[in-house]
Amino acid sequence: MGVPYLEIENLHTHFSQGTGSIFAPSQHVVRAVNGVSFSLEKGEILGLVGESGCGKSTLSRTIMQLTPSTSGAVILEGENLSLLSAAEVRKRRLDFQMIFQDPYASLNPRMTIFSTLAEAARQRRPGLKGDALVERVETLMATVGLDANVMRKYPHEFSGGQRQRIAIARALAPEPKLIIADEPVSALDVSIQSQILNLITSLQKDLGLTMIFISHDLGVVHYIADRIAVMYQGQIVESSTADQVFHEPQADYTKRLLASIPRLATAPAHR
Ligand SMILES: Nc1ncnc2c1ncn2[C@@H]1O[C@H](COP(=O)(O)OP(=O)(O)O)[C@@H](O)[C@H]1O
Ligand SMILES: [Mg+2]
Repeated sequence: MGVPYLEIENLHTHFSQGTGSIFAPSQHVVRAVNGVSFSLEKGEILGLVGESGCGKSTLSRTIMQLTPSTSGAVILEGENLSLLSAAEVRKRRLDFQMIFQDPYASLNPRMTIFSTLAEAARQRRPGLKGDALVERVETLMATVGLDANVMRKYPHEFSGGQRQRIAIARALAPEPKLIIADEPVSALDVSIQSQILNLITSLQKDLGLTMIFISHDLGVVHYIADRIAVMYQGQIVESSTADQVFHEPQADYTKRLLASIPRLATAPAHR
């Protein structure tokens, strides 16, 4: 198999918080990511699960080079991203995109869907314009199940589920290879969640994307992922195949997490 697509090596991201006192300047350190290692093969979906505050978003932002790591390495296709210049990271970042929990906050309210998707598509292909650009936007919209005739509308004119489809189309526009989806269905109505989960899974398969799918809900992660990593207080406490973690959890924390799943949420596929 050769080099894994993505390798995370003993990654730490710490935040130091001032006490506000000049007499005690060196203070409290939040170890949001505290020694995380894992690797990801091309085309694989890793589910990252853990309760709120355990460090999932910080880990994803650190992988994306949006938050600097304190130590450790993020190696993408054999290249250590922490050693790249800011300009090189910007270029490389086209290969990895994020989908966030709140599509409303992540879309620019003053930009039409067309402008949003056109801008994202042109990051990869600056030469795209005119009819070719419109065609590209139409294709992106069709890919996420949106009708092209709504492309001149603004985010507020859509429902939460449609907005998440737009955010997914925007993430796909620069033709990424890796997607980090950070709680992409947590803010949506339960009735919409399985539609969006199904969309994400089919896109992942069709486009051969490598994906890190984050959720606080082990049921959702089990539904979507090949492997699951369970995160607790900045560390991975268990990591195995999705079925192994879901049906035969080893770590006490995973057992507690499993016990806390509301029964209905464990089987989004069957509703
Ligand atoms: N920019 C920041 N500065 C200081 N502390 C932060 C910052 N971002 C996150 N944290 C802290 O790091 C911990 C992990 O947060 P986060 O990564 O958002 O967890 P999760 O996504 O799992 O809910 C929390 O204690 C949070 O308060
Ligand atoms: Mg988070």
